[in-house]
Amino acid sequence: MKIIGINTSPREGSNSRIALEKALSTAAQKGADTELFDLNSMNIRTCQADDYCASNNGTCCQDDDLQQIYSAIKDAYGIILGTPIYMGNVSSLAKIFIDRLYAVMNGVDFYGVSSKKFSVIASQAAVDPPMYEYIKHNLETSVDVIRGMGFVVEDVELLIGNARENSISSKEDQLNKAIMVGNKIVR
Ligand SMILES: Cc1cc2nc3c(=O)[nH]c(=O)nc-3n(C[C@H](O)[C@H](O)[C@H](O)COP(=O)(O)O)c2cc1C
Repeated sequence: MKIIGINTSPREGSNSRIALEKALSTAAQKGADTELFDLNSMNIRTCQADDYCASNNGTCCQDDDLQQIYSAIKDAYGIILGTPIYMGNVSSLAKIFIDRLYAVMNGVDFYGVSSKKFSVIASQAAVDPPMYEYIKHNLETSVDVIRGMGFVVEDVELLIGNARENSISSKEDQLNKAIMVGNKIVR
């Protein structure tokens, strides 16, 4: 069983990446093969909207590093997307990743989407409810798109109060949420 993590934070000491690593190591303890992709250090372009994938069974014609991830998605039992919250929404790298899932959406049977689990871990700075209710709404909207493709959405965790790098390292409750994500995605 393969579980892949998609990290879309660019920074060292990324909280969402720490949570992603925790979820993946938990899944590995349960016997999963895991792989973590750092999108910020990969050569990835945005969707070119050429619709090649629509007439080629979900194959994206772009010769960039996302091809590795398409292969990994095809083999994966579960996918965990990690994202910082930027300006009230997922990061731009996460948005590019979701846009590039257009190819997967156009090849749902080829990729075996309906039997794959998908979880999301997001991290933000704000702690006041008025500051994050709309972010939760925006995050859910992105997740609805993923669900609409046919993925089985398992968990969506929004970790709050993480303005500084490595903030979650000392937050047992947030690390436990990441562990729960890792436990549930292999079930
Ligand atoms: C460009 C930018 C935009 C941000 N926008 C928000 C925001 O709208 N709401 C919020 O609560 N935090 C915001 N933050 C703070 C990050 O969401 C927060 O530091 C988060 O924990 C970063 O995740 P990471 O550590 O995984 O990179 C922003 C940070 C940056 C750099």
